Amino acid sequence: MTSSASNSKPDVLLIWPNRPRQMAILEETYNLHRYDLSNDPDAFLKEIGERITSVATTGGKGLTAEQISLMPNLKIVSSSGVGYDSIDITACTRRGIKVTNTPGVLTNDVADTAIMLIISTLRQLVKGDRWVRSGDFIEKGLMPLTTSVTGKKLGIVGMGSIGQAIAARALPLGLEISYFGPNEKTDVLYCFTSDLITLAEWADILVLSCPGGETTRDLIDTNVLNALGKTGTLINVARGSVVNQPALLKALSSNAIAGAGLDVYANEPHGSADFVDLENVVLYPHLASGTVETRDAMAQLVCDNLEAFFAGKPLLTPVN
Ligand code: 8YV
Repeated sequence: MTSSASNSKPDVLLIWPNRPRQMAILEETYNLHRYDLSNDPDAFLKEIGERITSVATTGGKGLTAEQISLMPNLKIVSSSGVGYDSIDITACTRRGIKVTNTPGVLTNDVADTAIMLIISTLRQLVKGDRWVRSGDFIEKGLMPLTTSVTGKKLGIVGMGSIGQAIAARALPLGLEISYFGPNEKTDVLYCFTSDLITLAEWADILVLSCPGGETTRDLIDTNVLNALGKTGTLINVARGSVVNQPALLKALSSNAIAGAGLDVYANEPHGSADFVDLENVVLYPHLASGTVETRDAMAQLVCDNLEAFFAGKPLLTPVN
């Protein structure tokens, strides 16, 4: 699993495998150390940590301060994913380690997923699918009526590039849009609401597209969910940490909100199991960026950032 170090290729720790074409590039260009395939990753890292100058990881796996401390010669972390809340950026910056992510290339697929979850939650796509498959359509006839999307009020929490792509798709669906974030955006025409509770009270659908991490932890709590109210729907394509999950479970099971469409969960993947008995949720397995096209583009950006770093060129998508 550890390639020979008797050449001049940089030593890369691979925490998460990339797409086939980009894996071939990495195999060819670097001494690839397959942490992802190791039976005992901790011992593996202790053994080879000193040689490692770069890490290829993902937002899902991240990189902890402890792992970073085992790599005294680490210079660059190239991560797949726009979110980097699982990477200890402070520890990296303190040591002058560069971190890159993959923004932009996944924006459209993540925005599509938000719209998919909005429509499938309000129109109860999954329940409808089960209605047909179970034979209920034949035995019981029509399913109970669902809820219209057109004309609803959409509150967007986090109006970055993904929030804006969701808004661009929501407008032609006939949704009215308002947003919340740390600051009003000067280049965005939608109405800004500086108070999250006010936005939740106004909204029929609250979609989360903000970064994860400590600044947004538990942003969506019982107060916000109560403000969203009995006819409100929560959509999360951001991070599970943005929502207080026990509060969401209680709100869904007591019908304090109408429903939720979720791509992300607290403590993934296990935390997703908390929702499986609830009828009023549509669940997706953290797959918003999970298309062949987008994962190829993300993997290429991981490679391109590494290549730029070792060529002494500016990084394409630096985080710090
Ligand atoms: C991926 C993501 O699941 O971009 C993000 O922040 O959450 C997703 O695109 C993940 O990082 C896998 O690469």
